[in-house]
Amino acid sequence: MDIWFRPSRPEYLDAIAAVNEAAFGGPEEARITRALHADGDSLLSLVATGNIEIVGHIEFFRIWIDGAPAGVGLGPMSVLPELQKTGVGAKLIRLGMAALEGAGETLVFVLGHDTYYPKFGFSEAAAKPFTAPWSGPHFMALRLGQGAPEAGTLTYPKAFGG
Ligand SMILES: CC(C)(COP(=O)(O)OP(=O)(O)OC[C@H]1O[C@@H](n2cnc3c(N)ncnc32)[C@H](O)[C@@H]1OP(=O)(O)O)[C@@H](O)C(=O)NCCC(=O)NCCS
Repeated sequence: MDIWFRPSRPEYLDAIAAVNEAAFGGPEEARITRALHADGDSLLSLVATGNIEIVGHIEFFRIWIDGAPAGVGLGPMSVLPELQKTGVGAKLIRLGMAALEGAGETLVFVLGHDTYYPKFGFSEAAAKPFTAPWSGPHFMALRLGQGAPEAGTLTYPKAFGG
């Protein structure tokens, strides 16, 4: 099957939520995606589409560092179970990172699988100097360029309960 990658559109939200629920096995990540969009907190949202349906999705949102809009958060991201481990997720991450870097973003955080995101350069060490609602090996960061804050306190969008 051919897969295309493109920016999300508001009318895709139900299909994106269905991919979130199928991949995560519950409603929480779909709720977060819907809330990020409803609150105007989605910074970049990409989908992967097959012949007729959305098969993958990645969301990026603004993270405030010490009150400045200096960070980006990645998530939720999901790929339909039957298409996982075929490279769709990797393409979504790489496209997203390229777009963010092109837009001048320098620092991306993720809370996720510590066996997956390091493949794309994320590390626990890069996130460690930052104070966030979470910590540990699942909380990682990736520096995209010069000039990012070295440390600080992160504020997440209210979709995450902040
Ligand atoms: C995690 C997820 C988004 C990855 O997407 P994907 O399209 O399956 O990933 P890819 O095919 O691009 O995988 C890229 C590499 O990561 C590996 N990989 C895939 N899923 C992985 C996982 N959960 N843990 C560790 N490695 C994983 C692949 O084997 C591949 O390795 P390789 O480069 O050595 O061949 C997808 O599996 C998913 O939707 N999972 C359920 C929801 C979820 O957990 N989302 C992320 C929350 S942090």
